Amino acid sequence: MNVIRVEDLRFKYRRAERYSLKDISFTVKRGELLGIIGPSGSGKSTLCLTLNGIIPNSIKGEFEGEVVITDPRTGEEYNTKETPVPTLSTIVGLVLQNPESQLFNMTVEEEIAFGLENLGLERNEILRRLRWALEVTGLRGLEKEFPPNLSGGQQQRLAIAAVLAMEPSIIVLDEPTSQLDPVGKQEVLGLVSLLNREHGITVVLVEHHTDYILRYADRVIVMDRGEIVLQGAPKEVAEEADTLRRLGVKLPPALEVSHELKKRGVLGETVLTPEELLSRIGRPSR
Ligand SMILES: Nc1ncnc2c1ncn2[C@@H]1O[C@H](COP(=O)(O)OP(=O)(O)O)[C@@H](O)[C@H]1O
Ligand SMILES: [Mg+2]
Repeated sequence: MNVIRVEDLRFKYRRAERYSLKDISFTVKRGELLGIIGPSGSGKSTLCLTLNGIIPNSIKGEFEGEVVITDPRTGEEYNTKETPVPTLSTIVGLVLQNPESQLFNMTVEEEIAFGLENLGLERNEILRRLRWALEVTGLRGLEKEFPPNLSGGQQQRLAIAAVLAMEPSIIVLDEPTSQLDPVGKQEVLGLVSLLNREHGITVVLVEHHTDYILRYADRVIVMDRGEIVLQGAPKEVAEEADTLRRLGVKLPPALEVSHELKKRGVLGETVLTPEELLSRIGRPSR
């Protein structure tokens, strides 16, 4: 079942000279993790904003084509240009790059409960969702903390908790680790994997950490200048080393080595991880 269907999407911001998105078409199946990579300015954030309807409902411009979201719980389809953002936000949750910009309450629990109170849910339901969101994101025990006092990784997990409390079936994360230190990056990417694998949440992840994307994504989209230039399984995308290098995408070391060994005829196919590389090469014989 496709939960996201984007068809011939083009978008130009008001007063902009050029289209930020051109002829974008792809689908995402229920439970998939879709990775999006591409240089700065290639349209990744703009694409994220189209997935929960902020574009074209709140940020207007020239919008052509369609973005259709299916709620897997009901099977109902929502064409984003005809659906209010609050309705879409219970199906598609959006997490941004900078956690501070998304946090504005006095305590961790108020931050998570905030959106729920606006949904008009009953007290017991709010408490149930609050406990669940704290548990999944590993923030239990920090309920009364002042969000700005948390570490970067904790703040981003809190932003994710606030989105999860809405119980979306899809979450879209736009470079959620780019402001974080290595520990925070691991915390957040570990959480993303957990949500996808254990909780069946469909994930769209924009991430510079190519190593993570190639390892964990089911499918990868590579963008450049508002267009999709590559799209496929991680291995298929990884084969296109020249295109990736031209776009400045940093390839994981195992992949660089694998390309070199392939060129020299030592390896028959592209290998993505150090573990796989070692198992292909085998032990040196004496
Ligand atoms: N609010 C805006 N108004 C006009 N142009 C914008 C706006 N936001 C982004 N753009 C332009 O759209 C293009 C894509 O930007 P963006 O989606 O932020 O790319 P990325 O997230 O890949 O860095 C860029 O050329 C950028 O300058
Ligand atoms: Mg961006």
